[in-house]
Amino acid sequence: MPEAGECAAVQTGVEAATVEVDVDGARHRLPWPRDQSLVDTMLDAGIDVPHSCREGHCGSCVATLTSGEVYMGSCDILEPHDRADGLILGCQARPVTPEVHVEF
Ligand code: FES
Repeated sequence: MPEAGECAAVQTGVEAATVEVDVDGARHRLPWPRDQSLVDTMLDAGIDVPHSCREGHCGSCVATLTSGEVYMGSCDILEPHDRADGLILGCQARPVTPEVHVEF
């Protein structure tokens, strides 16, 4: 199991986590399938989330992980100190812990 915020291969599973996400002054609480990115999960829920490439290259989906753990398929554009500060890429993040809180 990778440390929080580290790059890692995509893991799959059927169980969903729960994510509480703050974006544009609103708080949303929704199920987060473990094999789906946070951006895709939010878009599926009809939530307008900042994103562009959805491939881990542009950084437009950067968010802050405030509790819980995620792993990312690709996060090379994040410096180690960014990851240490809790920054994640929403288009790459998938949940590790049952409860996750993220702020955009
Ligand atoms: S949308 Fe480009 S890095 Fe996530």
